[in-house]
Amino acid sequence: MTGMTAARLPPRQRSAPQAGHRGPAATPLAIRSAFRAPELDQRRKATKETPAMTPRYDAIAEWYDAHIQSIQPSEALIVPELLRMTGDVQGLHLCDLACGQGHISRHLGRAGAHVTGIDLSSKLLGIAQEEERRFPLGIRYQLDDAQTLSSLADQSHSGCVSNLALMDIPNFTAVVSAVKRVLKPEAFFVFSITHPCFQAPEAHWEVRDGDRVTRVIPEYFQEREWWSVNTESVRGRVGAHHRTLSTYINTLIRAGFTLEAISEPQATGELGTIKPEFATIPPFMVMRWINAGTH
Ligand SMILES: C[S@@+](CC[C@H](N)C(=O)[O-])C[C@H]1O[C@@H](n2cnc3c(N)ncnc32)[C@H](O)[C@@H]1O
Repeated sequence: MTGMTAARLPPRQRSAPQAGHRGPAATPLAIRSAFRAPELDQRRKATKETPAMTPRYDAIAEWYDAHIQSIQPSEALIVPELLRMTGDVQGLHLCDLACGQGHISRHLGRAGAHVTGIDLSSKLLGIAQEEERRFPLGIRYQLDDAQTLSSLADQSHSGCVSNLALMDIPNFTAVVSAVKRVLKPEAFFVFSITHPCFQAPEAHWEVRDGDRVTRVIPEYFQEREWWSVNTESVRGRVGAHHRTLSTYINTLIRAGFTLEAISEPQATGELGTIKPEFATIPPFMVMRWINAGTH
């Protein structure tokens, strides 16, 4: 499972068009301009008007599906690390929590796991199911809320994997409680999140000291929903629920999980050239927790 490379990515991703690929254009200058649009107040207004449990991704399902296929640099940084943390999944019953269009479910299915993908967006699940029809891996996709997981039985899974979705869900305590309920004792919970220290409300890039590109985090401690001003990003289109690193960690500890590993992937080599911002700060964080407490 280690070192998954672009050559091992599924056909859809390998043959994906490069439109929207930030590639070599992702220079510090490009980063700067991407964060310049003054739309924050407008976005905040939209936040208030949007009920918490609206499946927001239904409105952007096609865009998100294409986006996933066009961001190979991010994928190359995070997916191998997520799968490395997941380990050998052959024969295991796994839940892909907030699976979206199912690309992580398919990685796990190809590695021999029995996967149930859960998501709130029927449109993204439709894309996932269509892919399952074309290339069957035995993956089941179910419409459900990650905050309850009401379609999954108690202690029914050996592991839960979630890729870049926990920031989309308002009640993290409820998610952790639901995940704990469906996991067997000693089962794992592996997830990636946007790094809460660097993807915080109104975080942006500034150029300082002439040409030094610097990440600015104006407010880390305030836990709230926020929207990126970059409307070409996921967080510009659906927003995110910011919570501090200690909230993530303490919520899991209180629920009876034990931290086994933590990773902040850094872009090196060619990837570091393509995405220089990923070489200076970690945009993502991956954690592996074990369901160690009593039920
Ligand atoms: C950034 S996408 C990540 C999707 C997928 N894990 C991936 O790697 O592409 C976030 C996903 O969370 C889902 N989601 C948001 N709130 C949810 C909830 N309460 N229950 C289940 N899924 C939810 C969205 O529909 C969306 O598919």
